[in-house]
Amino acid sequence: MAARHQRCPGVTTAMSDPQPPIVELRGVSKSFGRLHVLHEIDLCLERGKTTVVIGESGTGKSVLLKHMLGLLHPDKGQVYVDGRRVDKLREKEWVPVRRRFGYLFQMGALFDSFTAGQNVAFPLQEHTNKSDAEITEIVARKLALVGLDGIQSKMPGELSGGQRKRVALARAIAMDPDIIVYDEPTTGLDPIRSDTINDLIIKLKNELAVTSVVVTHDMVSAFKVADRVLMLHQGRFIADGTADDFRRSTDPRVQAFVTGDADLQMSHLDQTEAPQGGTAS
Ligand SMILES: Nc1ncnc2c1ncn2[C@@H]1O[C@H](COP(=O)(O)OP(=O)(O)O)[C@@H](O)[C@H]1O
Ligand SMILES: [Mg+2]
Repeated sequence: MAARHQRCPGVTTAMSDPQPPIVELRGVSKSFGRLHVLHEIDLCLERGKTTVVIGESGTGKSVLLKHMLGLLHPDKGQVYVDGRRVDKLREKEWVPVRRRFGYLFQMGALFDSFTAGQNVAFPLQEHTNKSDAEITEIVARKLALVGLDGIQSKMPGELSGGQRKRVALARAIAMDPDIIVYDEPTTGLDPIRSDTINDLIIKLKNELAVTSVVVTHDMVSAFKVADRVLMLHQGRFIADGTADDFRRSTDPRVQAFVTGDADLQMSHLDQTEAPQGGTAS
């Protein structure tokens, strides 16, 4: 699990590659009052690859993602998108940067009073001058990508949890993002529906050539979709490698998490400082 790129550990991009990392966090620290959530985090997302961040509930995975989207700002450190520093941008200047991202939040609820089709159309109506006919065509195409073309007129309440997630994903890709951010995409879904989402993450990566970042505590999902996995623990990355590297890891903290072994986790907690408070995710 050694670093392969001096400035961007884990990223295999040749040093001579003229393109900067698509997203980069440099030395990002974030606290809420006395709760230190992120400690000098360095992270580069490799273009066209899927980077997965795993870690227990409340470790700061969502906080990490929010720094990429300008929804939270670092106390220390910098955030770059395509080599441009963005963490000091004003709210208005964030708008075009955020448009490069599609995001599927854990609580990424659909608008309940809109049909599935209207939900997917929403960002296109808000942010583009496309005609109704063009929007209808794009909505059909995006829903087809997630395997749901034809459900345009259904209300969210008529859909299963997995279908709602897929409509939210169709909405996330409506604007053709370069980067898709997934926050716990499989949480709350049964194994079959989770696997449908995993397959979609892989399909969108391949068909849309997007860069993906997934945060999850679902190891099955992490191992299936990841090109690279990082484990966040008490504000720092403690492991970085492929799924196979993680399976073979002898680090007890990694093993406890990968195997979901509660006893190992408890014995580990006994040896270290108390876990960071809060269970929000
Ligand atoms: N806006 C906020 N204000 C105060 N505390 C927060 C805020 N956002 C997150 N936290 C706290 O930061 C920690 C990490 O949260 P989060 O990133 O949501 O964890 P997770 O890894 O489950 O996604 C938690 O203790 C949470 O309560
Ligand atoms: Mg979270």
